[in-house]
Amino acid sequence: QEPFENGANPKKEQLRKFTTDNQGEFLTTDQGLKINDDQNSLKTGERGATLLEDFILREKITHFDHERIPERVVHARGSGAHGIFELYKPMAKYTKAKFLNETSIKTPVFARFSTVAGSKGSTDVPRDVRGFAVKFYTQEGNYDLVGNNMPVFFIQDATKFPDLVHAVKPEPDNMIPQAASAHDTFWDFISLMPEAMHNILWLMSDRAIPRSLRMMEGFGIHTFRFINEDGKSHFVKFHWKPLQGVMGLVWDEAQRISGKDSDFHRRDLWEAIDAGHYPEWELGVQIVPEEDEHKYPFDLLDPTKLIPEEMVPVEIIGKMTLNRNPDNFFAETEQVAFHPGHIVPGIDFTNDPLLQGRLFSYTDTQISRLGGPNFHEIPINKSIPEVTNNQRDGMHRMQINKGKVAYNPNSLGGGCPFQAKMSEGGFTSYEERIDSTKIRKRSKSFFDHFSQPSLFYNSMTDHEKRHIQNAFAFELGKVKTVPIRQRMVNMLLEVNEELANIVAKKLGLTTERLPQPITDSIPADGNLEHYFSFKND
Ligand code: HEM
Repeated sequence: QEPFENGANPKKEQLRKFTTDNQGEFLTTDQGLKINDDQNSLKTGERGATLLEDFILREKITHFDHERIPERVVHARGSGAHGIFELYKPMAKYTKAKFLNETSIKTPVFARFSTVAGSKGSTDVPRDVRGFAVKFYTQEGNYDLVGNNMPVFFIQDATKFPDLVHAVKPEPDNMIPQAASAHDTFWDFISLMPEAMHNILWLMSDRAIPRSLRMMEGFGIHTFRFINEDGKSHFVKFHWKPLQGVMGLVWDEAQRISGKDSDFHRRDLWEAIDAGHYPEWELGVQIVPEEDEHKYPFDLLDPTKLIPEEMVPVEIIGKMTLNRNPDNFFAETEQVAFHPGHIVPGIDFTNDPLLQGRLFSYTDTQISRLGGPNFHEIPINKSIPEVTNNQRDGMHRMQINKGKVAYNPNSLGGGCPFQAKMSEGGFTSYEERIDSTKIRKRSKSFFDHFSQPSLFYNSMTDHEKRHIQNAFAFELGKVKTVPIRQRMVNMLLEVNEELANIVAKKLGLTTERLPQPITDSIPADGNLEHYFSFKND
């Protein structure tokens, strides 16, 4: 029984209106015409050619011909489920977001977990980051927390995202490998991108081969802002902690499972929910007062850094339970459109340059993936509050807007929505004071690329360290270009000497230090090509 005040989950009710099971109905065309035979096409005699006139055949085949839509450019393979979010304690001190203020409010959610690099039909258990995206259908509109199962990212600036993805996706001439990081283009890019080292350490750890989607943590990664009723801002990082515990596979298992059941994670999630073993995650926050922005040895705006829990503990504030499988994979899991820019009053962005670029990318890609600007009308994407604005028309428009006035300001009224006054609620961007120069450069505070990966490696148990060493050796062992392997070993030297030596030995390489440590050689553009080509010449 879902604990909604009037007994009904508003999102479930909304979706129900669009759902049909066709039980006991006559077969019709798309125009609602009852038909007697859709198994024989219309022909010129029993053995004759098929007639162009056959609108039943044409409609059936035309629709089939257009059943596929483009897969996501990244995170193409995913599995989704419905659920609810329950707040444990009111967070009004930090945020005015209603769903984080009142413990009586239960918020419907839809979560989608994904791999990043593989295509829609690829295996569930490659060594990869996992997407962890949650859409909260709040009373104030949709709030999306679009995170990963690792707390940091590979790059510090969104402008590098196409490069990263071109490097990690299958190589463009032969589309090999389908869903793994074991290839030259990926390691070529990484070996020239020291800021990636922290995420790479996570990627070579057991976190990159989860035992189950139910047994992964989730992270919002970026520092966001909470804004309270008085307009005061606190920095916040979001965490999901699975009550099932965190568990990984070992590499041998992962490879066998890939062969035997490439739907391993999807099946596990579906069957657990189907059997009533609802997976649960607690939502945690790390909160940093604005005044403490510069207190840390890293920049809060740098998405390759986490805030160690010893510095700022994670405060648990609520729980998500996934308790309902989708009715239709395409309608829900495939058509859902997440976006880190879907926020509600009380939550706001920071100037993290990776986040800033994401704010552009998601709607842009969804316009082509979901066929035009009206994908917010697709049932899974519809907000609980009615959408009332002056946006009009476009491909596949469903809403019928009455009246002549679709512009502001206007004096004619009649169907034109009005802007809320501040006292009436609504979203206002946080007023951050900026006094700066327009510049294409990174702050020096983003330049320490090795301390946190080093901490990460040192925090591992012996067997976890062994898994990381073996993962590097396995993945780099697939790289054909020897200088790329060597660059990676040199990079590992900056993280941990033991790790670099073991990996080098397994690859038959040496760990000779370069004339100048990489750390001192990173130029403002972060491009190390020159530095390394000197060594490799
Ligand atoms: C999709 C997470 C960085 C562009 C996704 C998804 C997740 C995700 C979870 C899948 C959503 C779903 O299940 O439908 C992240 C995280 C990032 C990050 C945690 C860094 C902290 C970026 C950046 C860009 C980007 C920097 C572009 C500049 C995209 C695109 C999609 C996507 C285009 C496909 C969306 C769709 O087709 O609906 N990302 N991402 N991401 N991401 Fe990111």
